[in-house]
Amino acid sequence: MKTTVTASITTASREILRGNLVAFPTETVYGLGANAFDKKAVAKIFKAKNRPVDNPMIVHVHKKGQIPQLGYVTAIAAKLIDNFFPGPLTIVLKKKQVVPKIVTASLATVCIRMPSLPITRKFLKQCGVPVAAPSANLSGKPSPTTWQHVLHDLNDRIPLILKGPPCKHGIESTVVDCTRNPPVLLRPGAVSLEEIKKVVGKVIVPKKVRKALSPGVKYRHYSPKARVVIVKKAGDAKGRKNAFIGMHHCNGVGFAVRVKNFAEYGKRLYWFFRKCDELKVKTIYCELPQLHGKGRALVDRLKKASRRSSY
Ligand code: TXA
Ligand code: MG
Repeated sequence: MKTTVTASITTASREILRGNLVAFPTETVYGLGANAFDKKAVAKIFKAKNRPVDNPMIVHVHKKGQIPQLGYVTAIAAKLIDNFFPGPLTIVLKKKQVVPKIVTASLATVCIRMPSLPITRKFLKQCGVPVAAPSANLSGKPSPTTWQHVLHDLNDRIPLILKGPPCKHGIESTVVDCTRNPPVLLRPGAVSLEEIKKVVGKVIVPKKVRKALSPGVKYRHYSPKARVVIVKKAGDAKGRKNAFIGMHHCNGVGFAVRVKNFAEYGKRLYWFFRKCDELKVKTIYCELPQLHGKGRALVDRLKKASRRSSY
């Protein structure tokens, strides 16, 4: 199957309504979408990405009115929707029957997100139906933050890529389980824990998210080919065949990227991982961010990328 890259929202939404897959940009990372109500179309996502079928996906909507059709909106969910939708936040709700089991991997809950990037909203609006989509990478690889990353991973595996700008956040959405009170942070992301607490008060932050709560946590994620090592200081990174990313200057390695703040760190991390693969880097040293604000999601992704096995 030849993969076409288009800037046409009309072409992309037609493809979705024909039961096919379309990779599309969002402000976090690129997604690989299918009509959420079309089981056969959703099944194609698992095949294209090599995604384990027990890993559920996020349903993307273009307006708040679509949410009560898909899940039961709790009081906590309503507050989060008011404050953060559209944006890089995903909520978990008890699902309604219309959502096919294949989308939620047979869980009784559904993940819902309303992206804020204008091109994504126009695309979702033209689709009319909710769009189920995980990140548009091959399973286990870093999420794509440019359309070229999507093409690299999924060329000849999907029919269409809707071209957009490089992703603003570069790190996936924050996932909050709103079926519980207090709500539970299942995945730190572009919206910080501090911002969420300001709106809903107490939030449970599990040391380790259990597989039963969010199946995706058991898989190896966000990983480049090279070994990823987290370091406290730039000076700990050494070696001509190695690379470094962090807030400080590092002259001990062959390839170093210095970022100004956590926002830029997030935006560039997956791009950096993929660049390191291209350059055949052996070891990637990543400076440890603080567990605060945007740093929390970075710490989570770096820890996952540095794990060798799938658990
Ligand atoms: O920013 C993002 O969230 C991007 C863009 C494309 O929206 N999407 C994304 O999807 O990162 P994905 O599939 O790579 O990550 C979704 C995570 C997975 O870890 C999955 O296990 C979890 O959300 N998840 C999906 N449905 C769930 C549910 N009903 N309950 C708990 N966790 C769920
Ligand atoms: Mg993913």
